[in-house]
Amino acid sequence: MAFIQGLFKTSVARKNIMAVTGLFTAFFLVIHLVGNLILILPDSFFPIEFWDNVASQHDMYNAYSHFLVHFWPISVVAWILYAGLAIHIIDALLITLTNWKAKGEKYVKSDNSTSTWYSRNMGILGIIIGIFIVVHMGQFWLKYKVLGTEHDLYDLVVGTFKQTWVVVFYEIGIIALGFHLAHGITSAHRSLGIHPKSIMNVIKYIGLCFAVVMAVLYGIIPLIIYFNN
Ligand code: HEM
Repeated sequence: MAFIQGLFKTSVARKNIMAVTGLFTAFFLVIHLVGNLILILPDSFFPIEFWDNVASQHDMYNAYSHFLVHFWPISVVAWILYAGLAIHIIDALLITLTNWKAKGEKYVKSDNSTSTWYSRNMGILGIIIGIFIVVHMGQFWLKYKVLGTEHDLYDLVVGTFKQTWVVVFYEIGIIALGFHLAHGITSAHRSLGIHPKSIMNVIKYIGLCFAVVMAVLYGIIPLIIYFNN
């Protein structure tokens, strides 16, 4: 317990933890996206002759989900992800509280002329993403992986994205995620000590491209399912 408390003690340590857990979550997002793109690829895309019991996109998605749940190394990585996400959220709350406290104690005039609105609102974006993740995991992860009440994940996901409110809710969550990533990737590198100006400009650009690609590809999945099925 003392070790955990010690980890969060200094603001540098807190920012480093935030950076590492954030970058790990961004890596998860890439893998998660690749798996979920199966949902919108046509049957003809899959070389189904290579697999037994796989004759369509529907089978392919369920085979992929079955593999995720039953291959133990993936379960270990999933638990590291849950811990990383939880630490990222606790750390964000601690940093926000410290900042509010500092602002309350003395008058701090901040110069906003060079920062973007989304870099100044990472906390609000984080809250929207937090709500999104809780609802999202309740819809799929809880029913399929934890309670085991749903066995056909493809039908569950496609059925869920037939509801207008769900699609609107996902688009809001994913747009918030895009802005959060646009600042988060750059900020994480700066926290980890990578901040010479020449490198920072490249990282800023890569972070922005990453955020746009993630938001667009995640964002089209519910839309394509909603309008196609
Ligand atoms: C619209 C695109 C998305 C679809 C179709 C989708 C689908 C799913 C499904 C079916 C599951 C349960 C099965 C599994 O564990 O893999 C799941 C789990 C999860 N999703 Fe998503 N997801 C999407 C976007 C996102 C986004 C944007 C985030 C993060 C902000 C996210 C975070 C998670 C997490 C943390 C889990 C639990 C992971 C695990 O247990 O391995 N998902 N998602």
